[in-house]
Amino acid sequence: MNHAQLATKLNSIGQGHVYTFYDRLPPEQQQRLDAQLDSLDLDLVARLIDTVVQEPAPFQLPPDVKPAPYYPYEPRNPAEKDKYQKAFRRGEELLRAGQVAAFVVAGGQGTRLGWDGPKGTFPATPVKRKPLFQCFAEFLLALEKRYGPQPTFYIMTSPPNDAATRKFWRDHQYFGMKPENVIIFPQDVLPAVGFDGKILLETPGSLALSPNGHGGSLLALYKSGATADMARRGITQISYFQVDNPIVRCIDPLFIGLHDLDGAQMSSKMLPKEYGKEKLGNFCLSRGKIHVIEYSGFPDALAEERLPDGQLRFRAGSIALHALRRDFVEALNHHGFALPYNRADKKVPCADLSTGQPIKPEKPNAVKMESFVFDALPLTDISIIYETNRQDEFAPIKQPTGNDSVESSHAITTLRNAAWLEQAGVHVARTTQGKPDCVIEIASGVALYPDDLLPRKESLRPIKAKEEVYLG
Ligand code: UTP
Repeated sequence: MNHAQLATKLNSIGQGHVYTFYDRLPPEQQQRLDAQLDSLDLDLVARLIDTVVQEPAPFQLPPDVKPAPYYPYEPRNPAEKDKYQKAFRRGEELLRAGQVAAFVVAGGQGTRLGWDGPKGTFPATPVKRKPLFQCFAEFLLALEKRYGPQPTFYIMTSPPNDAATRKFWRDHQYFGMKPENVIIFPQDVLPAVGFDGKILLETPGSLALSPNGHGGSLLALYKSGATADMARRGITQISYFQVDNPIVRCIDPLFIGLHDLDGAQMSSKMLPKEYGKEKLGNFCLSRGKIHVIEYSGFPDALAEERLPDGQLRFRAGSIALHALRRDFVEALNHHGFALPYNRADKKVPCADLSTGQPIKPEKPNAVKMESFVFDALPLTDISIIYETNRQDEFAPIKQPTGNDSVESSHAITTLRNAAWLEQAGVHVARTTQGKPDCVIEIASGVALYPDDLLPRKESLRPIKAKEEVYLG
């Protein structure tokens, strides 16, 4: 649309104010503002303002919620053991056939971490400070060494970090991956909207835009042509993970195998919550469908409820690791994007509409509209959940200190690696409290599983107190 068409459209949806300062802007800023507006689906924006901002439906717990069933970390009986073995073999078969893609959602703004650059470029590992993106590339290269084809890696960015992400991969020669196997594409953005339903300007000549949530990945996969690219490559399964976890199993044959053997459309990994109100989404079952209910909306009484044996009744927490069939992602988009949008009230710096001066709000002043990937779960016919182990694959870096920080991520990584070395018979110095008294990093090229260390057993030496060790 040209400027005049955009102006007409904006007036028709009650958003003509975004051109308040237009006539006073230099031509390049006018063009930029027009381009920003033209890239938005203004009908969708108008609809979301009506439904998400002006008349939001109050949160409602789905009816008759029960704990969702899941496959336990360790099989409980011979039949389950047999199933896990079959599933692992099935996952390996899919990897050998090049049918599984890795998919990282890296479009978030990473405001808590405060890192100047895309989060995937953050130096994450405890010894070599490898960037998160390198951890994933090395994991995928290790799978290639084991199974043959190099898995294709799809990376979702967002407009603010897309160029920097592409440059980072180019500058690092794709960390050894084939450039044609690293597919980078941005998600959509949506404008932040004031509580009065008016789109906010960030400056007199630009909109306050933000990515449309991790659920937007299931739209972007389709819209960008990534799912069509997958179809051309013969990819049928997508392994979804978040950008902030350096020890994530980017593709896990057992999990993909269970998901595939059960014919699931979208599946999830879970961690048992450490305590009732732990800040993880809760896996629930309602009328036969899996739902993730965020900790903020989950009633305390349910969150804290215990079984007679003392275990939490709702113990399955979501860590945003999913397996999705490609055709399920396609189907979610066939009649328009199927996921709902949610409302988040945030502090959004913006321009004062009467003066154009910047406003730095001290309390939430705006609504961001985001979709969540787990809202696709109730749309499946079949969905499985598999329990994993915190130490094995969950060391997220969300903030500089405290929980889910660089420090906690380093500690978990060392804990995992110490356990792996000890299983291979290597002595690891521990403190009197039993914690590893050293820092250990193991590259994926050396070991994806503890048993991979066994052939090197003879060459591994004991790890002394305070040592920093890198096996690469
Ligand atoms: P987070 O909830 O941790 O958000 O995203 P964030 O934006 O990275 O960080 P904060 O909250 O501002 O500190 C979880 C995952 O979802 C991705 C993030 O990149 C991360 O991998 N994400 C989130 C997107 O890709 N797009 C979004 O719009 C939101």
